[in-house]
Amino acid sequence: IRNTINSRLNENGEYDFKDLNLSKEYLKSINKIYIVACGTAMHAGLAVKNTLEKLCKIVTQVEVASEFRYRDPLVDSNSLCIFVSQSGETADTLAALNLCKLHGAKTLAITNVIGSSITRAADYSIFTHAGPEIAVASTKAYTCQVTLLTMLAIHLAEILESCDSQLIETLKLNVLSLPNKLQECFNKNLDLVQDFSSKVYEESDVFFLGRGVDYTTALEGSLKLKEISYIHSEAYPAGELKHGPIALIEDGTTVISIMTDKNLTPKSISNTQEVITRGAKTLIITNDDLSNSNFDTVINIPEIHPYVSPILAIVPLQLLSYYISKNK
Ligand code: BG6
Repeated sequence: IRNTINSRLNENGEYDFKDLNLSKEYLKSINKIYIVACGTAMHAGLAVKNTLEKLCKIVTQVEVASEFRYRDPLVDSNSLCIFVSQSGETADTLAALNLCKLHGAKTLAITNVIGSSITRAADYSIFTHAGPEIAVASTKAYTCQVTLLTMLAIHLAEILESCDSQLIETLKLNVLSLPNKLQECFNKNLDLVQDFSSKVYEESDVFFLGRGVDYTTALEGSLKLKEISYIHSEAYPAGELKHGPIALIEDGTTVISIMTDKNLTPKSISNTQEVITRGAKTLIITNDDLSNSNFDTVINIPEIHPYVSPILAIVPLQLLSYYISKNK
C-alpha cells in the first residue's frame, strides 16, 4: 500500500495522475462511470462506488465482466469505463474492455501487471504495485486496488471541484495513514483472529453481514472464506437478513458482522442481536467501542473514514480464512 500511494504522489506530496490526461472539460462530459471486473477485483470496485458517486457526483455502476460483455450495455463516449484486474489477463474483463472501445468510451485499466493484455488494450493504465500474487486468491491486490481507486476518485473530484475541499484534505490524510494503521490492525488482532478460527474451522456455513460499504467488505470476506477454506458462506446486507435468510440461522451458526460506519452501526448491532437471539456465534469487526456488548469476539480496527475502511476491515477476514484453512 505504501508503494501504491507513493506511485501517485509527486515530490510535493500532491496527487499525480497527469499520465491519464483527464481535463475538467472531458470529465464534465462524463455522465456515467462503469467499473467492470471479476471476483475480488469487482468487489474492489463495489468498495469505491459510493466514494466516486459522493465525491464526483457521477453515477457509478459496478459490473461483473462476464455479464456486462453479453448484455449490450448503454456505453458511449460520455461513459468512462474502468477495468480492474490483478493479473490484467482475465478474458471476460478484456472482452468487456474491447466492447467499450467499440462504443467510443474512454477506457482505463487498473492492473498489477505491467505489459499485461488488459493494460495493452486500454487507452490508459495505472498500476497497483502490489507485488506478485503467488496464490490464486487475490488479497494484497484487493487492498491496493481499493487504495488506488480511492486516490483516483479523490483526484477526479479535485479536477471537477465537485465536493468540499475540507473533505478532500481529510480523505488524503486518511489514505496516507493507511500503511501504519494496517500494521497496527495486524499486530493487535492476530491472536484474536487465530483464536476465533480455532472455534469455527469445523463449521459448514458462515454468514457475513454489513451495511453500506461494510456490505462490500462482507462480500469479499465471504469470497475469501469460500476460496481459501472451502467453507460455504453467504454475505447479506444486514437489513436484508430478515427477508428470508434468517431462517438458516440456528444454534451455533457463525455470523460475522462488519460495522465501520458509525452512522450505520446502531442498525447493524440490532440486526446482529436478532441472530444472537437465534443462538448464533458472533464475530464483529468494528472501529466502535463495543467492549460491553454480548458479542463473542470483537476485533477493533483503527479509527478511519468509512470511505477507506474496507482496506483495514478486510485484513482480519483474510487472515481468518487463512487460519481456518490452516486449522482444517
Ligand atoms: C479468479 C481469482 O479466478 O479471478 C480471484 O480466483 C480473482 O481471486 C479473479 O479476483 C479475477 O482475477 P483478476 O486477475 O482479473 O483480478
